[in-house]
Amino acid sequence: MLESLPQVPDFLQIRDLPTTTLRGLIDASLRHRDRLAECHAGGNSCASLPKPLAGKIIANCFLEDSTRTRCSFEVAARRLGADVLNLSGVGSSTAKGETLADTARTLAAMGVDALVIRTSASGGARLAADAIEVPVINAGDGRHEHPTQAILDMAVLTRHLGALEGRTVVIVGDIANSRVARSDTHALNALGAMVRLVGPPTLVPSAYPLIAAVPSRITVHHDLDEALTGADAVIMLRLQLERAAGGATASDYRTQYQLSEPRLSRLCKNTLILHPGPMNRGTEITHTAADAAENSVILEQVEMGVAARMAVLEWAIRHQGGGYSQSSLGTPQSLERPPTPIR
Ligand code: NCD
Repeated sequence: MLESLPQVPDFLQIRDLPTTTLRGLIDASLRHRDRLAECHAGGNSCASLPKPLAGKIIANCFLEDSTRTRCSFEVAARRLGADVLNLSGVGSSTAKGETLADTARTLAAMGVDALVIRTSASGGARLAADAIEVPVINAGDGRHEHPTQAILDMAVLTRHLGALEGRTVVIVGDIANSRVARSDTHALNALGAMVRLVGPPTLVPSAYPLIAAVPSRITVHHDLDEALTGADAVIMLRLQLERAAGGATASDYRTQYQLSEPRLSRLCKNTLILHPGPMNRGTEITHTAADAAENSVILEQVEMGVAARMAVLEWAIRHQGGGYSQSSLGTPQSLERPPTPIR
């Protein structure tokens, strides 16, 4: 029996994304990263790179604040040869009360080829996607998901560690309110990694592991020092004050959950340090942990952000208008031969 395939290659969440697609996007991100790095290292302009999205228009609709994600989507689209239309909450009709669905329909009616959307509404990207026939890419929707952040985080981890199966990744902080934690948890779960979620009980619900397909690979901890033992990587998160994160006072939080100098010195030399940004230096992470530690890959995450968004934009546009299967990016090669780690 023929499987009925969705016509529009929306990229809304990591949950339910076929693992072949996830792996394919990680591989594509790593390839884009290497090509961009070669251009930069050789002092060459990236103008010589192929422009598969020439003539396409990407609408970047950011209804919530963003630096890294918004700019990297724009850089990614331009590197692929597309034109970019930028729309923000302030200065657009959403400030006059227009719904997300109407904003999406308006942009689609102008003939844009893909809509990148960030919104404070959990599930907002799906609302937009249901309203239009143009691919919608979720750039972060409320507390729900931030799927391109997961692709870039997995690409950085894979670049350093190789296959993630059996690796231990610690995610620290405001798990309950973080869309990054949610998308990363789903991605790590699909790739066979062990995830330790750490934070105060108010910010790490004990039932959280049940969001994942394989809950037994996820554990909840309230003691950071214990959770860091034997970790391959630690992802520090910001307190999402805009989503009413609360409970512990700032000074209690720092004592218990900050990646501080003493914790840094106890960390295994090879434990990678990640943070999706923006960092609140002095709260969840100190300057030393963020910058000086040899194993901090925070700026590499930013670099990989461009590559990952190139991979996702290309995937969405390539599969628009038919021939789309969610697993179309998975190649036998990506399944059999994980990239060689750089250390
Ligand atoms: C994250 C986000 O917006 O969810 N940042 C990002 O996209 N780089 C995390 C955060 O805001 O703390």
